[in-house]
Order: sequence, then C-alpha cells, then structure tokens
Amino acid sequence: MKQLIALEVNGDMHEIAVEADATLLSVLRDNLGLIGTKRGCDSGGCGCCTVHIDGKAMYSCMMYALSAQGRKITTIEGLGSAEKLDPVQDAFVKEGAVQCGYCTCGMIMTAKQLLHDNPHPVEEAIRHGIAGNLCRCTGYHKIVEAIKTAAGN
Ligand code: FES
Ligand code: FES
Repeated sequence: MKQLIALEVNGDMHEIAVEADATLLSVLRDNLGLIGTKRGCDSGGCGCCTVHIDGKAMYSCMMYALSAQGRKITTIEGLGSAEKLDPVQDAFVKEGAVQCGYCTCGMIMTAKQLLHDNPHPVEEAIRHGIAGNLCRCTGYHKIVEAIKTAAGN
C-alpha cells in the first residue's frame, strides 16, 4: 500500500505517494524525473547513484525514500545548470574526465563531499575518497586530474 511522504530535494518540497520499500533512488528517478542520479548495481556496489543527504555523500539505492523524510537531499541537478556549471562539473569537462558518463554524476557528488572535507587533497586522498565509485571507462586518471583541478592543486 502506498503512503504519502514529503521529500526536500534540491531545495524544493515534493509530496509523493510511494510504496514502503521504495528506495530513494527509484523515487528520485521514477517519481521526480531526476535521472542524473543513475541506477547501476542497485545494491551498494558501484556509487553511480550517489546523492548528498544533509551534505553527506550516500548511495541512494541503499536508502528507503521514507527514511529520507526531513532531510535535505541534493542531486546532481541541484549543483549547477547547463548555463552555469558547478566548479567540479566544469573541471570534469575541462579535463576530459567523462567518457560514457554513466558514473559521472555519482563521481561528482562524491568529489564535492571530498573537497568539502579536504579542500586540497593529495592524489592518494583523492583515490581513497572516490574508492566507492566505479568507472569502467576512464582508468580514473582523468577523474583524479579533474578533482585536482577543481581543488586548484
Ligand atoms: S546503484 Fe547504488 S551503489 Fe550501484
Ligand atoms: S565514464 Fe563510463 S563508467 Fe565512468
């Protein structure tokens, strides 16, 4: 049976009828149309569904939508726009850190948290910070370079 929940996403409140076991990922994509957040493994193993919950990067496939009530959810759509990219998005484009792009939104959400916690990370800290986000295309080198660029390193 569906129940009505209220979610704050990118600063906007949404009332949505969801099944009790609906994940935050499914509600973001299937109910709210926020398809920048990707569904990969759907089981906590790839990181492409990463969003921010109260400023912390988390896998949205591993959280029930009900549990996200009362918390501030930010998706990639809440970071920047096509006209004005977020500095991390801009760095990924400039450094060519995007190939198929499937991992990119989750990777950027994780990079934002990393740079918030550690504004000038060394390479080892960057690689450690993105260890929960898999990329099957880039070999990670350009992603690491993009995060260094965003950090001004
Ligand atoms: S889709 Fe969530 S971790 Fe892979
Ligand atoms: S750019 Fe294709 S999976 Fe990372």
